[in-house]
Amino acid sequence: MKKLNHFSALNPEAVAQTVEKFGTPVYLYDEALVLERCKECVEMPQAYGLIVRYAMKANSNRTLLKLITGAGLHLDASSLNEVIRAHLADVPYEKIMLTTQEVHIGASRQTLEELLLSGLKYNVCSTHQLELIADFAVANNIEVGIRIHPGIGSGESATRNTGDDYSCFGVHLSDLPRAQKCAADKGITFKHVHVHIGSGADTKMWRQNIDLLLGIIEKHFPDAETVCFGGGLKEARMPGEYAADVPLLGSYAKMQIEDFYERTGRKLTMEIEPGTYIVANSGYAVTRLIDKKSTARSNFIITDGGMEINSRPLLYGSKHPIYIVSDDGTRIISSEFDDVKHDYEAVVAGKCCESGDCQTLDMDGHAVPRAMVEPQIGDIVVIGGVGAYCSAMAPYNYNSHQQASEVLFTTKGKLKEIRKRQTLEQILQNEV
Ligand code: LLP
Repeated sequence: MKKLNHFSALNPEAVAQTVEKFGTPVYLYDEALVLERCKECVEMPQAYGLIVRYAMKANSNRTLLKLITGAGLHLDASSLNEVIRAHLADVPYEKIMLTTQEVHIGASRQTLEELLLSGLKYNVCSTHQLELIADFAVANNIEVGIRIHPGIGSGESATRNTGDDYSCFGVHLSDLPRAQKCAADKGITFKHVHVHIGSGADTKMWRQNIDLLLGIIEKHFPDAETVCFGGGLKEARMPGEYAADVPLLGSYAKMQIEDFYERTGRKLTMEIEPGTYIVANSGYAVTRLIDKKSTARSNFIITDGGMEINSRPLLYGSKHPIYIVSDDGTRIISSEFDDVKHDYEAVVAGKCCESGDCQTLDMDGHAVPRAMVEPQIGDIVVIGGVGAYCSAMAPYNYNSHQQASEVLFTTKGKLKEIRKRQTLEQILQNEV
């Protein structure tokens, strides 16, 4: 376990320059931190080979995909559209694994076939998916992997626990005999076995997941050559939260894979699929404080970017750090990290007409004030920890707001726009 270390990375001058050049709201990503996380993952201890797949659903901006794959990572895609986006970012199909809930029939089936023939890798996630692809895979000598549903999982909330029996991801162990029979009848052997137990998984459960999957492979998959333990490596966004200790988890996995070799004589290549861990803390949502109000219960500071920029507090009660920066690039206060007297408390709200549009909510959706030094209208309010599942997941056209632009703060200290702000015309263009 290790303490978070990202908050010192916020560069208030870069924030102020971003606002001056690109306006608000805007996502700002720190290239150095993304690269640091990539390096940590690709260098984690391993036994007989390691592939780190970035789960691109966390943030699929083309520039970030290029950066991350340039740092040696492969990709985990969750839809055919993600595969196509990855390829448009110059990622070869051979480096992309599709693990999806989609069932491809009709036109999408044709696309899947074309991509598989071009080298895309495919994990079946249900017996039905296997039945649909088996003949084509055998006829074209295409390997298919299998995602196992272990029945035990872990996530930061019930909605992010993909491994337990309330979730429906992968071939459940109880359905495995049916999948195995289909594979045997069609002549398919599984060389790749995968599991993903949830997001923000408890470290103990992640280790248990390693043991469990190796046990399943030993018992049911005599032809497996790679084992994928999925993503879910926990990131710490707030003080008091602990991130996964990647080197330690790597050491554990290495030991267990070596042990597996001693028992079975089989050397497995390991894969992991982090999304959050690679990008979460590199991202800041930069907004402007546009109004202040008070009720009998709370002060509210209102910013020009809220749930349509970061829906995680509303969806999961997730906590994100809040920083206040002045227009001249002085860091006024970070509500959580600075050792100064916090003499004011406020709920950080957005501009959508919905009471849940707050960045400071608890798990039940109640607005919770944060301690801070009182900011003024016009100050810049920065929400940290938004690199993952924010730009990729937020309902950005709610209230007809426009999707925010995205800017990369490069290792050379330059600000590079990597997505333009959406226009109103673009919101309207498909209406008939
Ligand atoms: N592999 C598979 C098959 C996945 O479904 C996911 C995430 C990952 C890897 C990456 O998981 P990560 O390392 O990012 O935890 N929207 C939620 C997270 C949902 C993740 C869904 N699947 C959040 O904002 O916390």
